[in-house]
Amino acid sequence: MKFSDATMARFAREIAKYPPQHKASAVMACLAIVQQEQGWVSQEAEVALAEVLDMPPIAVHEVTTFYNMYNQQPVGRYKLNVCTNLPCQLRDGEKALARLCEKLGVEEGGTTADGLFTVQKCECLGACADAPVMLVNDRQMVSFMSDERLDALIDTLRAHDA
Ligand code: FES
Repeated sequence: MKFSDATMARFAREIAKYPPQHKASAVMACLAIVQQEQGWVSQEAEVALAEVLDMPPIAVHEVTTFYNMYNQQPVGRYKLNVCTNLPCQLRDGEKALARLCEKLGVEEGGTTADGLFTVQKCECLGACADAPVMLVNDRQMVSFMSDERLDALIDTLRAHDA
């Protein structure tokens, strides 16, 4: 695949922030641009970006797979990540994940048929005392996700989309 001129211009702005021999340092910012424009980061996009940044495709793939915020497949309009690390596990993190999956009728990692919600588990969000904790679309953290608060969140997001 080839990136558009507009995308290449956005990459160039990120690459210019680093010395020429360290253009690979722009990989996270460039991956964010790819995802912003395409909704996810395909393997073809990884290979094309690797060429732009003069780095091996596997090195780009390592970044994409290390950070939860990069989607390796298309996701729903609302990506819901529930923390299931140990501190959250001890305070109903797994239960919140199960509740969400059951309510939306998906397996963990799945997307609803209407394309609205993707439910995934994730690693510690650094707010263990607020468990169960979730992240909405990689940006907004929501805490103390009781059954009632989970239901309210889904209702709010659905209403927002209606
Ligand atoms: Fe869930 Fe830390 S373990 S936020």
